[in-house]
Amino acid sequence: MGALGLASTLLQLILALLAASLSLTAYRLFFHPLARFPGPKLAAATGVHEFYFSVILGGQLPFRLQRLHSVYGPIVRIGPNELHISHPEAYEEIYRAGSKLSKWPWYYSCFGVGLSAFGSLSNAEHSQRRAATAVFFSRQSIFSYEGILRQPVETLCKKLKSARDRGDPVDLDRAFRNVSLDAISQISFGRSFDFVERDDAAAFFHEGVGDSLKTICTVRFFPPLVPFFNNMPLWLMKLMGEKLAAVMLMKRFAREAAKTAMEQHSLSPEEASKRHMILGHIVANRHDPRYGAVTQRRLEEEALSLIAAGADTTGNASTMAVYQLLRHPDLYERVKDEVQSAQTGPGGEFGLIQLEKLPYLTAVIKEALRMSYGLMGRLPRVVPPSGIEVLNEHIPGSTIVSMSTYLQHNNEQVFPQPSRFNPDRWLGEDGSRLDRYLVSFGKGRHACVGMNVAYAQIYLDLGLLLKEFDFALEPMSDWDMEYEDRFVGLHHAGAKRVHVRLK
Ligand code: HEM
Repeated sequence: MGALGLASTLLQLILALLAASLSLTAYRLFFHPLARFPGPKLAAATGVHEFYFSVILGGQLPFRLQRLHSVYGPIVRIGPNELHISHPEAYEEIYRAGSKLSKWPWYYSCFGVGLSAFGSLSNAEHSQRRAATAVFFSRQSIFSYEGILRQPVETLCKKLKSARDRGDPVDLDRAFRNVSLDAISQISFGRSFDFVERDDAAAFFHEGVGDSLKTICTVRFFPPLVPFFNNMPLWLMKLMGEKLAAVMLMKRFAREAAKTAMEQHSLSPEEASKRHMILGHIVANRHDPRYGAVTQRRLEEEALSLIAAGADTTGNASTMAVYQLLRHPDLYERVKDEVQSAQTGPGGEFGLIQLEKLPYLTAVIKEALRMSYGLMGRLPRVVPPSGIEVLNEHIPGSTIVSMSTYLQHNNEQVFPQPSRFNPDRWLGEDGSRLDRYLVSFGKGRHACVGMNVAYAQIYLDLGLLLKEFDFALEPMSDWDMEYEDRFVGLHHAGAKRVHVRLK
């Protein structure tokens, strides 16, 4: 073929591609089953809209969605095949127990934990895997291992006392994350990371998780890269960045823990649960068909997802509570008085049972959860073939639908002046009515299985510290406490963390 022939073939190819793109765009805009729903044309035609707000601008999609809803109403088309909904009453229509909606593979596969309960795409597998761990997260179980959740807080209290004696400020933001990670590693595989003690190792890990989440949220847009990213050898990851390698080390840790739990399969369920907690419990019950097939890989992914799910999320809530209380001295004094004059148990004990009875502390925790975002963005689900009805609209099968915690928690009809920290809104009968609109933990079949652990940890974080210390906030601004949607809510790069001085 001569040069002219080659040029002509190339031209034909380009024209054919152009024609195909134009036809696809025209189909999506005018003939697609979602064409009747309002929204920006760019979003209806391509995924570029989401890429721009999520990746180029960095975790800004929830704020964009908030603006779109103020223009287009409660249902907005935000992708060629995706609707986003913002309406307080719609949440339970989409996220409810027994729902046939399932997780969207594109959104969740990138985390590389498809064998865990969190990463399960099929509802049947999800139910089995969730059932295998759920017993550990019941309220009753938590009281039986309150000591494990409490131990890292007590270690932190010792460190705070030394810092007070030296007059040093303390990074409470990091400290709360360390507490959560120590507790979760202990309940997941019976061995604590000891991050409260080894703060340097923890710093490396936290930065690694942040970087890794940002990378994952970008890699998601290039699906062929996902398996490569998730199975990258450690040396290559190190070349890409020391911090990313921290996550690989965590994976290695989870692999070792899974291997040990598998090797000790001869232990009785009771003994296994005592020694290796969640992983041991799954292994000991491996012949029970209700819990699905147990492999080392599944245990590893379960351990990883538990660690990732529980650290920043709980840490964000405890940190937000302290920040807001120190910004509002009257509220701080009120909660401190309540905690300090709380009744102890008959033997002088002071723990979850006593703390959960304190109405104002409980209101502070709910308000901190409302404003802090473990997961801030949308939780997308695939509509089953029969379609669903939401807000009296029929949504066709295979559509992706989602709602976002950020929008739900900033709805002015439900939470007037949403940017104001106002624990009082949760008190009394009016306050109880608000509970159903607090969706920090999601709802329905995929709702957070660790919710009781999270509440218990936040009660202990705040209760034990407020009982013992008086704090003063180091200079920082509200900007430092803003979040970006990196699946988990992360603060801006360069934001100051909450540092306090102890009195
Ligand atoms: C304030 C703290 C927390 C918040 C705000 C939070 C929030 C959430 C949300 C919104 C989901 C649903 C995710 C989705 O639909 O994609 C979820 C799932 C999950 N969370 Fe949490 N979480 C917190 C703490 C924890 C803790 C402490 C643990 C474990 C110890 C945990 C373990 C999990 C697991 C395993 C799932 C997957 C559940 C399933 O799919 O069945 N979370 N969490």
